[in-house]
Amino acid sequence: MSETAEEYGPFPPSPEFSQQAVGQKSLYEEADADREAFWAKQARERLTWAKDFDEVLDWSEAPVAKWFVGGELNVAYNCADRHVEAGNGDRVALHFVGEPGDERDITYAELTELVQKAAGALKAAGVEKGDRVALYLPMIPEAVISMLACARLGAVHSVVFGGFSSDALRTRIADGEAKVVITADGGYRRGKPSALKPAVDEAVSGETTVQKVIVVKRTGEETEMTDKDVWWDDALEAAEPATEYEAFDSEHPLFILYTSGTTGKPKGIFHTTGGYLTQAAYTNAVVHDVHPGEDVYWCTADVGWVTGHSYIVYGPLANGVTQVLYEGTPDSPHQGRWWEIVQNKKVSIFYTAPTAIRTCMKWGKEIPAEYDLSSVRVLGSVGEPINPEAWMWFRDNIGEGSAPIVDTWWQTETGAIMMSALPGVTSLVPGSAQAPVPGITADVVDEEGKSVGNGETGYLVIRDPWPSMLRGIWGDLQRYKDTYWSRFEDMYFAGDGAKRDEDGNIWVLGRVDDVMNVSGHRLSTSEIESALVSHDAVAEAAVVGAADETTGQAVCAFVILREEARDQAADDDKREELVQAMRTHVGKQIGAIAKPKTILVVDELPKTRSGKIMRRLLKDVAEGREAGDATTLADPSVMEKIQAGLKK
Ligand code: WT7
Repeated sequence: MSETAEEYGPFPPSPEFSQQAVGQKSLYEEADADREAFWAKQARERLTWAKDFDEVLDWSEAPVAKWFVGGELNVAYNCADRHVEAGNGDRVALHFVGEPGDERDITYAELTELVQKAAGALKAAGVEKGDRVALYLPMIPEAVISMLACARLGAVHSVVFGGFSSDALRTRIADGEAKVVITADGGYRRGKPSALKPAVDEAVSGETTVQKVIVVKRTGEETEMTDKDVWWDDALEAAEPATEYEAFDSEHPLFILYTSGTTGKPKGIFHTTGGYLTQAAYTNAVVHDVHPGEDVYWCTADVGWVTGHSYIVYGPLANGVTQVLYEGTPDSPHQGRWWEIVQNKKVSIFYTAPTAIRTCMKWGKEIPAEYDLSSVRVLGSVGEPINPEAWMWFRDNIGEGSAPIVDTWWQTETGAIMMSALPGVTSLVPGSAQAPVPGITADVVDEEGKSVGNGETGYLVIRDPWPSMLRGIWGDLQRYKDTYWSRFEDMYFAGDGAKRDEDGNIWVLGRVDDVMNVSGHRLSTSEIESALVSHDAVAEAAVVGAADETTGQAVCAFVILREEARDQAADDDKREELVQAMRTHVGKQIGAIAKPKTILVVDELPKTRSGKIMRRLLKDVAEGREAGDATTLADPSVMEKIQAGLKK
């Protein structure tokens, strides 16, 4: 990675950009001088508190932090009402673009009214402060409105990505004990309506904590409604709008978001109010360089992931930014769709994932060249390492050859951006997330937890608590401590490997645990293994993430069949059928994103004498290499057998 990197950059900021930049070099000095005072200032300047806090950080119950202790605020008020009060009610909050081409502009005044009505509808459905509400929605304005409506009432939302299956939705509903679900009849995907509601019906059938399901009409397709269900429009119309709001404690829970860990059970990462909103707003301002009222910002993520939470909903709306919200895929109905939207809406800040950039590279630079992209002035990347070639392509073809690119490293757990260049301040090094943002103390350490020197590789850690850090794993404090705080003493272990280059820049190298990153989506090897093993034909399964040119990693599974299925698999066509059935099964258990790209049927798996599967060796096979050192295997000949079997 770093061999090619040296060919590019560093690119110093242009004086014109620096002059207007929100981020300033002085922020680093300020934060270094007094970190807590720095964050207190951000919290007070960027947010409106109903009651000021009296302590910045309480770390006495480490590793559970309390930020802005004693402070009280309402997140929905901060993201909507207060912009209207400040005279910006006519400013567009959302330029919604539906996949079929329908458009809808929602101003801050309209957003405020809609959030008040939706909060009223939730209240009428029995939702009270602290209750959990599950959201299973396409990328439509109602997703944003629903999140803010929960926040207005102090209810905790748990957004489940619309691409997850009904089984995945069911386990997330159960883990969070959600009282209400908000969903839609469906959404549009690649030119066709795609139903969502049937998955909810399945997920809430039988024993469930869910009392009511609110259904947005998006596609208008025939939809079965049960006793529990109510249409969104009817619910909003019938309810008294929640024009008043309560201010909640700074540490009141705001949301739960499930993410994959190293075990089969997804973790409910939970975030609270004051610190989260402070860091989301601050980073959106200084990293994306937003100038509310001037810029048109677009983050292409889905609200089902943390990027959508922090950089579509909370950060930008707290800042009063105008943004694009797009429902569909980049190539529907044509491969220039994104650039057409950038041109039409005059997007000035564009935040996306490396996998999308690499896909656009494959489609060819002729496609963006057909559009006027001169409005673009800042580009951002998130989700996985961006290779320097993709970085250069992005800048040359989307950023008019000059727009700064911010490569932002963070996680569901960190809540907001932790490492990134500051545009207008930092000289950019393509491929490197470079340095922690002012106020954050990231480091690269060795096995013993000692900082590594320049040119050395180690583990990425965070040394001090930060405002938007997770406050735990829902219902499992011990797992929180074990996962993040036990590897190194008094440091947060992120799970990523990293390198410091000769100039001190940090390069994130990817996960060092059993977590895969496919198209910037986090998947757990063991979760997919469990899904495979639950298929009738499968006796054992091992999953690895194999390097993939476009998606970063691709899911590759090795399965041992049960006796009954073996005869069937002897026939090539039948085996192919079986493999397809396994893929479908994983899609049903988790969601389409988790379907293995390849499934290889093998007779044995490489195991150590203690029975641990050596995935490293399988990864070698999946990536087309000769398998590495196999001497610690219980049966060292297994790898030869696997390789010979695959060549057949
Ligand atoms: C993991 C977190 C952060 C929102 C989207 C993903 C990888 C994320 C970068 C980056 C290299 C990155 C890490 C991290 N990652 N951003 N800029 N460079 N790697 O959130 O699903 O919680 O995944 O994504 O491996 O640990 P997530």
